[in-house]
Amino acid sequence: MNTVTRSVVTGVGGYLPDEVVTNDDLAKFVDTTDDWIVERTGIHARHRAAPEQAVSDLALVAAQRALAAAGRTAAEVDLIVVGTTTPDLTFPATATIVQRKLGAPIGVAFDVQAVCSGFVYALSVADGFVARGRSRCALVIGAETMTRLMDWTDRGTCVLFGDGAGAVVLEPGEGKGDTDDRGVLGFALRADGTKQDLLYVDGGVSTSGDIGKLRMQGNQVFRHAVVNISEAVLAAAADAGVDVADVDWFIPHQANQRILEGVAKRLGIDPAKVVSTVATHANTSAASIPLAMDQAIADGRIKPGQLLLLEAMGGGLTWGACVVRL
Ligand code: UT7
Repeated sequence: MNTVTRSVVTGVGGYLPDEVVTNDDLAKFVDTTDDWIVERTGIHARHRAAPEQAVSDLALVAAQRALAAAGRTAAEVDLIVVGTTTPDLTFPATATIVQRKLGAPIGVAFDVQAVCSGFVYALSVADGFVARGRSRCALVIGAETMTRLMDWTDRGTCVLFGDGAGAVVLEPGEGKGDTDDRGVLGFALRADGTKQDLLYVDGGVSTSGDIGKLRMQGNQVFRHAVVNISEAVLAAAADAGVDVADVDWFIPHQANQRILEGVAKRLGIDPAKVVSTVATHANTSAASIPLAMDQAIADGRIKPGQLLLLEAMGGGLTWGACVVRL
């Protein structure tokens, strides 16, 4: 019988920095209220990295936890892909810094920059290595220190973001080539560079020479989000050969509770199947999906063998979706 090599998620891990910043904490220095933030976004609190913590430090702990869950060691890791928009340094890639701190002596390491879609993009890139036999043990990490990009006088953005990291281990597994196979089953990735002005950072190496601050036309992004994400979800489901109705858990990028609910409603997804961490994590950009996976696995909701649908949208604009059987 012919078999197909799939990239199987064998371990998931997450890390959130200790400091919790509530909406009331923010209301002390920016013109906002807990009521407004909760009603418009569903966010109650977010975590903030300590000044001495770099994004690679967050990524390192998430990676170590994912490896422990997979029963693998750093010595076995031959590929590290980090989705981040807040790297430690302009170069080298955060992935190579994680490689060094992890003590992973072999293989390939690089970053993927697709902002909030970074994890979905990174997963698709790593899937290309693992499913083609070019990696036996890959770490795919979404890690962000978004609070470092905030303009703390802009109430339209600074209340929305938080810091954190999530990671998965991908290993090759043989499947029959049908939708019962464990592993990554399908993808849809999208980008539209004409929408840059809706969500971007106003600084960079070859322009201002500084890191800049995050700028967003929130209501415009919101308008694009529900429509674009829904199209990508349907395309990823078609790529995998599954119906959205067959999905056990819908794990969206955690930007806004109203977007999560809007997408679920448009696609006819039962709200009880939607994993939401936005209330306590806020928007952790590329980290939000693996952090949500980690939480729902840890609390016993997500079980091995279940069908997961991941989706995200962010600056670029970029967006995409991915179907995975755990
Ligand atoms: O992960 C990347 C993708 N990002 C997203 O998906 C974010 C998408 N956008 C959103 O989540 C929402 O658009 C926001 C939460 C950012 C804003 O919610 P909104 O319902 O779209 O509000 P708005 O931007 O249309 O602003 C409505 C009002 C404005 O006041 P006026 O002009 O009507 O007087 C804002 O100034 O709310 C005001 N406002 C605030 N008020 C209190 C904006 N931010 C705040 C705030 N506290 N923090």
